Parts: sequence; structure tokens; C-alpha cells
Amino acid sequence: MKTMKTKASLIITSMTSIALAAPLAAEEAKVIWEKNCAACHGKDGSGDTKMGKKLEIRDFTDSKVQEAMKDEEMIKAIKEGIKKDGKTTMKGSGDKYSDEEIKSLVACIRSFKK
Ligand code: HEC
Repeated sequence: MKTMKTKASLIITSMTSIALAAPLAAEEAKVIWEKNCAACHGKDGSGDTKMGKKLEIRDFTDSKVQEAMKDEEMIKAIKEGIKKDGKTTMKGSGDKYSDEEIKSLVACIRSFKK
């Protein structure tokens, strides 16, 4: 019983620190998104932009699209970019953003789901 209590309080402590850190990271990710991603993906992630239509970008507000994406794939795409038929359609940003920032960007994209 004693160990269970300790474990529970540990979990609560780490959850609290995540909750405290999250709003800042989320704000930061949103700024990055609107500056560097929204031109193609749209502010709301819907991909309803000129570039989005041209590049056939999926609608990130669609829960089916969200389900089809794996976090690791999203991270890889943000880091390394995306190529279609040998042409770069999205540039990689691995040298621009830290792993933490990329994780917050993934969370930001997840929040577009309706
Ligand atoms: C020049 C246009 C363009 C910009 C700018 C852009 N993207 Fe993309 N992105 C694309 C295209 C094209 C795809 C591939 C089509 C799709 O997945 O719907 C894509 C796909 C993605 C995917 C899906 C990867 C998967 O798992 O399938 C993620 C995540 C993503 N972009 C994140 C970002 C982030 C974060 C930024 C800003 C740092 C960004 N994109 C900026 C064009 C762009």
C-alpha cells in the first residue's frame, strides 16, 4: 500500500509539472505554426490555402486524417521534410527547431482535430 501511494504522488507531481510547462510550449508552437506552416497548412490546419490545394495537403481537422498519422511520422516529416515524385513539397526543419519544439508542433497539429 505504501509503495502505491508513493507511486501515485510521483505521477501526480510529474503531471503537474507537465501541465505547468505545456501552456508556454503550446503558445510557442502556435507562433511557429502561424509563421512557418500556416501558409500551406492553413492557420486552422485545414490545408484550405492556395498552396494547400496545389500540394494536395490533407485536412488536419479531419479525425480520420489525424488517426492515420503516427506521431513518429509527423516528427520525421517536420525534421526531414516531404518529397513527392522526387520533388520537395515540404522542407525539413530539423536544423531549425529543437526536439521539444517539434514535439509541441505535433501537439499543436493534434489540437486541430475537430
Ligand atoms: C511549402 C508548403 C508547406 C509548408 C510551409 C509546411 N508544410 Fe507540412 N506538408 C506539406 C505537404 C505538401 C505535405 C504532404 C501532404 C500531406 O501530408 O497532407 C505536408 C505534410 C505535413 C505533415 C504530415 C506528415 C505525415 O505524417 O503524413 C506534417 C506533420 C506537417 N506537414 C507539418 C508541418 C509543420 C509543423 C510545418 C511548419 C514548421 C509545415 N508542415 C510547413 C507542405 C508544407
